Amino acid sequence: MTTTPQFVSEPGNDSLADKARDHLWMHFTRHSTYYDGGHVPIIVKGEGAYIWDDQGKRYFDGLSGLFVVQAGHGRKELAEAAAKQAEKLAFFPIWSYAHPAAIELAERLAHYAPGDLNRVFFTSGGGEAVETAWKLAKQFFKMTGKPTKYKVISRSIAYHGTPQGALSITGIPPAKIPFEPLVPGGVKVPNTNFYRAPEEYRTDEKAFGLWAANRIAEAIEFEGPDSVAAVFLEPVQNSGGCFPPPPGYLERVREICDEYDVLMVADETITSFGRIGDMFAMNRYGVTPDIITCAKGMTSGYSPLGAMIASERLFEPFKHGNNAFLHGYTWGGHPVSAAVAMANLDIFEREGLNQNVINNEGAFRRTLEKLRDLPIVGDVRGAGYFYGIELVKDKVTRETFNEEESERLLRGFLSKALFDNGLYCRADDRGDPVVQLAPPLIIGQPEFDEIEQILRGVLTEAWSIL
Ligand SMILES: Cc1ncc(COP(=O)(O)O)c(C=O)c1O
Repeated sequence: MTTTPQFVSEPGNDSLADKARDHLWMHFTRHSTYYDGGHVPIIVKGEGAYIWDDQGKRYFDGLSGLFVVQAGHGRKELAEAAAKQAEKLAFFPIWSYAHPAAIELAERLAHYAPGDLNRVFFTSGGGEAVETAWKLAKQFFKMTGKPTKYKVISRSIAYHGTPQGALSITGIPPAKIPFEPLVPGGVKVPNTNFYRAPEEYRTDEKAFGLWAANRIAEAIEFEGPDSVAAVFLEPVQNSGGCFPPPPGYLERVREICDEYDVLMVADETITSFGRIGDMFAMNRYGVTPDIITCAKGMTSGYSPLGAMIASERLFEPFKHGNNAFLHGYTWGGHPVSAAVAMANLDIFEREGLNQNVINNEGAFRRTLEKLRDLPIVGDVRGAGYFYGIELVKDKVTRETFNEEESERLLRGFLSKALFDNGLYCRADDRGDPVVQLAPPLIIGQPEFDEIEQILRGVLTEAWSIL
């Protein structure tokens, strides 16, 4: 059967925005916005820490695209690395074969990763890396005499991706409910939002961290240690607004995982490749997990790529006999993406991007902390070049906004006002309402000031319209 394409023939529908509205199914997007007179914002160019829309207007990219463009936009050498590789070998799978770009990148990632995390399994993104890690945990325990271990413990409000396994690990109920039943075995524990810590821990971050980590031990006991395969956590949790690990927290989680023979998986989809000032945040925090999942910044977004990096212990059973990890992706370790990642990591080394974050993170924090004088700013938290600003109705009581206010504040006003004022960033209410920042790693004080100034103006106005 042949079908005739249906073109909407209203006047003006040949603009890019109209074509986007009529044909491009945007991700996590309320399309009604664009049928109610709103226009799809169209970004056409990037240079350094700035992006431009199709009307020629410039914006500061306060989110590095989507926590991705670490080295900044417009890097010719990354485009050239892609072109060179595509000319030489555009594609070959890593299913029983290999190609130089994937081999060299695997070796390099193993070198950057903590401990003996030497085994690199490439994916095309972060969700696939998470999915891969859970499947590895299950198969590993089946192969090593503990076949009943399959459950995963993760934290409330954490986002770990959209494949159905990764979504089970995700702790955001509204993102899961439409797709239930999901993969069984996802168990949730509290996150490390110190600002929202139980009253008795509000003045002692270390005690709060210990309390939060011990909830993992409690969950393992409750579920039965023989049923639990892994704990998944981000070193700094993104969703909810950048929760750093309290002192001693990650160490205690490591201890708990060892005690119960449960794998510790650090989901570094966002926190790796300089976001926290090291190739992997777990290096910075001095704790070695059993698996790291990563993606996004590995290529600075010039081509898609993700990876799961596992310890030697987890690879060991696969060295023998007929054993194989029965899992893979066509695009995993794509030659073009791997070549781009190598060139991107060369930039990291040559320009000292991690060191730039370490040198400037204090100044970034101090600049954002100035916003605490605004009545709407309850908390400023984060690490490296990764910050969340929590918005509240009452600073003293920490009262948050109800659903209707949050809708009006974030969707009705903030997202658009920030963008209109030249700052692309995220206004999010998957937890309590926050504005999130994750700028390219190339910036310094002048850009911090620019971000602060725009936020100050828009947040002041937001308070006045409430
Ligand atoms: C911590 C974490 N894990 C997994 C994912 C999913 O990554 P992707 O969108 O590349 O599948 C994300 C995406 O933002 C993430 O932040």
